[in-house]
Amino acid sequence: MFTKVFTATAGFVLVCGLAACGSSDKSDGDGGGSAGGGGGDAITMGFAQVGAESGWRTANTKSIQETAKKDGIDLKFSDAQQKQENQIKAIRSYIQQKVDVIAFSPVVETGWDAVLQEAKRAKIPVILTDRSVDSKDDTLYATFLGSDFIEEGKKAGQWLVDNAADADVDKNGSINVVELQGTTGAAPAIDRKEGFADATSGDDSIKVVASQTGDFTRDGGKKVMESFLKSQKDIDVVYAHNDDMGLGAIEAIEAAGKKPGVDIKIITVDAVKDGMTALSEGKINYIVECNPLLGPQLMDLAKKVVAGEEVPKRVVTEESAFDQEQATAVLADRKY
Ligand code: AHR
Repeated sequence: MFTKVFTATAGFVLVCGLAACGSSDKSDGDGGGSAGGGGGDAITMGFAQVGAESGWRTANTKSIQETAKKDGIDLKFSDAQQKQENQIKAIRSYIQQKVDVIAFSPVVETGWDAVLQEAKRAKIPVILTDRSVDSKDDTLYATFLGSDFIEEGKKAGQWLVDNAADADVDKNGSINVVELQGTTGAAPAIDRKEGFADATSGDDSIKVVASQTGDFTRDGGKKVMESFLKSQKDIDVVYAHNDDMGLGAIEAIEAAGKKPGVDIKIITVDAVKDGMTALSEGKINYIVECNPLLGPQLMDLAKKVVAGEEVPKRVVTEESAFDQEQATAVLADRKY
């Protein structure tokens, strides 16, 4: 149903066997077993990662690479540098190499049907991990492992509703929120926006006065926040779709002579170590957790899918949320 044509950009996609990337004992070889079958040899997985845009992504990549190595899975890994055409090119390369299973975290939600049809025709199962695709045909993938992003947005919004009196920093009866959105078109950006709007819709004092993408990066969050601080007179709250953009916003707020967490309240999503540190220091007020450690569940699903076993169509990651006190309590043990 998606007719958009994508042109692959030469030279961007870095496809390599893990041995070449220094993360596996196995050599890259010819790409492993025959299409769709484990065949007794080690499973070969082609993984098309979004990029390295955030602390979350770094932890996610590490979890996948370390688990593949531990489980003896021959992992071919590519970094799409946040470009859909690079991911499509990587997936096509995995199809050509006849890997046993393809896994990927889609940069954006739409535009995947054509390449997923190609994988299906080649009888190579696909596992969606972290982010899903917006396709009417759910036979194009075996399973989707990842967070409930709408629920994450709801948790962020509910915290604001519950703490509205405190968040109305200038006590004028109106809570002005600026939103730092994730990558335009990405599932977590769409869903976290929706969940937050849903949870806050019953409170008329809460208004999102500006909303712009910071592309899930620290630098993006800083630049957008700098412009919000110039264009918006009265900002009570920053809602950032991830920690990195929230951390960038902190830099902009401090540079403008204000105290993050006090003069402007900050809510983020992820709970990576840098975010949790800022939370325990009082610079962030609340973080909704998004778990990046998907490697073990992903490899288990891959083994089952390659063996032809049935797997659930949707596996939701368990997650929590932290206020400042809770962050301080768990910070020392935070692994990522
Ligand atoms: O898809 C998960 C999101 O992508 C994380 O919240 C964000 O940090 C990452 O870049």
